[in-house]
Amino acid sequence: MWTPPERIKHEKPEGGWPDARTAASARLFSPVQVGPIRLEQRTWVPAMVPWRATEEGFVTPDVVDWYARFASGRPGALVVEATGVRDNPSGPLLRIGHDRFLEGLKELVQAVREASQGHTRLFIQLIDFLSIRRRPEPAKFFARFLELTERHRSHFPGLTDEAIREHLAALPDPELDRYLDERELESLRFGWRERIGDLDKPHILELPRVLPDIFAQAARRAREAGFDGIELHYAHAYTMASFLSGRNDRPDGYGQTRQGRIRLPLEVYRAVRQAVGSDFVVGCRYLAHEGIEGGYALEDAAFYGQEMARAGMDFLSLSRGGKFEDARQPPVGWSVYPYTGPSGYECMPTVFSDRKGPFGRNVESALPIRQALRDQGLDTPVVVTGGICSFAQAEGLLSDGSADIVGAARQSLADPDWFRKMQLGRGQEVRRCRYTNYCEGLDQKHKQVTCQLWDRLGLDEPGLRLAQDGKRRLTAPRWTP
Ligand SMILES: Cc1cc2nc3c(=O)[nH]c(=O)nc-3n(C[C@H](O)[C@H](O)[C@H](O)COP(=O)(O)O)c2cc1C
Ligand code: SF4
Repeated sequence: MWTPPERIKHEKPEGGWPDARTAASARLFSPVQVGPIRLEQRTWVPAMVPWRATEEGFVTPDVVDWYARFASGRPGALVVEATGVRDNPSGPLLRIGHDRFLEGLKELVQAVREASQGHTRLFIQLIDFLSIRRRPEPAKFFARFLELTERHRSHFPGLTDEAIREHLAALPDPELDRYLDERELESLRFGWRERIGDLDKPHILELPRVLPDIFAQAARRAREAGFDGIELHYAHAYTMASFLSGRNDRPDGYGQTRQGRIRLPLEVYRAVRQAVGSDFVVGCRYLAHEGIEGGYALEDAAFYGQEMARAGMDFLSLSRGGKFEDARQPPVGWSVYPYTGPSGYECMPTVFSDRKGPFGRNVESALPIRQALRDQGLDTPVVVTGGICSFAQAEGLLSDGSADIVGAARQSLADPDWFRKMQLGRGQEVRRCRYTNYCEGLDQKHKQVTCQLWDRLGLDEPGLRLAQDGKRRLTAPRWTP
C-alpha cells in the first residue's frame, strides 16, 4: 500500500473508556432512527469482504460464521460485504443477482439474528462493477490483445501486422509511449479495465437503462431474505461511484455536470424504493472525497448528500478514496487493486501517515456534509468511518455534530466485542487494532481475511475452522462477558 512520504508513526488515541454508568448515558449507546427502523445504538460495522463465498457467489458456513461473530458483539448495525447485483460470474464474491442465492442469504440473516439476540440490525451492500483483466505478459499483449489500427500501421509503413506486433513486443517499455495511446498503455502496464465512458460498447452505453432494474431486483431479494435494509454501494472504484465521479464526462446526460453525474444514482435509488416500499431501509455509501486528480471533493459531496437525502434515502454512509485511477502497477498476472495508491490510503489509512494521521481521517469532511443536510432541513443520519477506535473519539464526533452514527471496520475486525466491552465498562479489555493493514493485504491477495491479533490464537480449539492455508482461525476467539 502507498504510504504518505512523511511516514510519521502515529500512536493510537487514548481509549477514554467509560465506566458502565457513563456508557449508559453516552450518545454512542443511545438509539437512532434510520428511516423506518431504530438502531439500538449508534455503532455500525461497515462492509468488509472476507473472501469466504463460493466461486459461484453463494453463502458458505464460513460466511455465516463471519457475520455471526460480528453480531455477537451486538453493534447497532452490521453491513454485509459488497454483494454483486448481477447474475454474472465474479469469483468468490457474494452475489444476489438471482433467486437461487436467497436460501444462503436467509441462513445468514437467521444466524445474525440469533447471535445478536435480535439486538443488531442487518443491511447488505449492493454493488455493480465493470470488467477488469489481469496485467498481461507483454508478449501475450502484443500477440493477442492489442487491436492494431491504422494509427499503428501508419508508424510502420510496409510492415505486415504480424511484423508490427513483433516489432512492438521487442521495444523497451518507455519507447512504447510513441506508438500506443493512453488506454493501450494502461492495458499493457496495468491490465485492461472497462470504464463507464466506453460508449462505443453497447453494454456500457445502456448502463443507465439496465442498472435501475438490476439493483431493484437485488433489493427485492434482500428484503425477501429478511435483511432490514440495503446499502447501495456508490463508493470507491465501482460503477456507481464512477458515475458520481468528477471525472465522469459521459455526454448522454449522465455525466459532465454534477446534476448529470448524480442522475443515475438517483434513478437507481428510485427504482429500488419502488421495489421495496417505504418500510425497508435504503441508504447508500459514497465518498466524502474521491482523493484523485480531477475527482470530486467536499462541495460536490455535500451537494450529492443533499440530493440523495431529499430523494428519500434513509442513511448516508461516508467513505473516502479507494480509486483505480491512482492505484499502483500490479505484478504481471495480477489485477490492479484500487487501494494501493494515495486514494486507497485515504480509504484505509495506516499508522504510518502524514501529519493528519489515520485516526478519524474522514470526520472533518463529515461535519460540513451533515451540516449541509441540516441547513436544508434534512435529518438523514450520517455514518462516518475511518480510523475510529476509541470511545473518546466516537463520543466526541457524535457530540460535536460531525455524524450520527460511528462506523468502525478494522477495529471491529480486531475485536468484534469492542462495543459491548465499552458498554459494560470493560474498555480496558478491548483488543485494539494496530492499523498496519495485515487484513487489507490478505484482501488484496483475495485470501480469506483474518486479523493478526487473533488468527493464531487457540488453534487447538475443538471443531475450529481454519483458513485454506491451515494456519489461521477464521473468526475471533469467543469472549463472554
Ligand atoms: C478487508 C476489508 C474489506 C473491505 N471491504 C469493503 C467492502 O466490501 N465495501 C466497502 O464499502 N468497504 C470495504 N472496506 C472498507 C471499510 O468498510 C472501511 O471503510 C475502511 O476499512 C476504513 O474504516 P476503518 O478505519 O474503520 O477500518 C473493506 C475494508 C477492509 C479492511
Ligand atoms: S489485521 Fe491489523 S489492521 Fe487489520 S484489523 Fe487486525 S490489527 Fe487491525
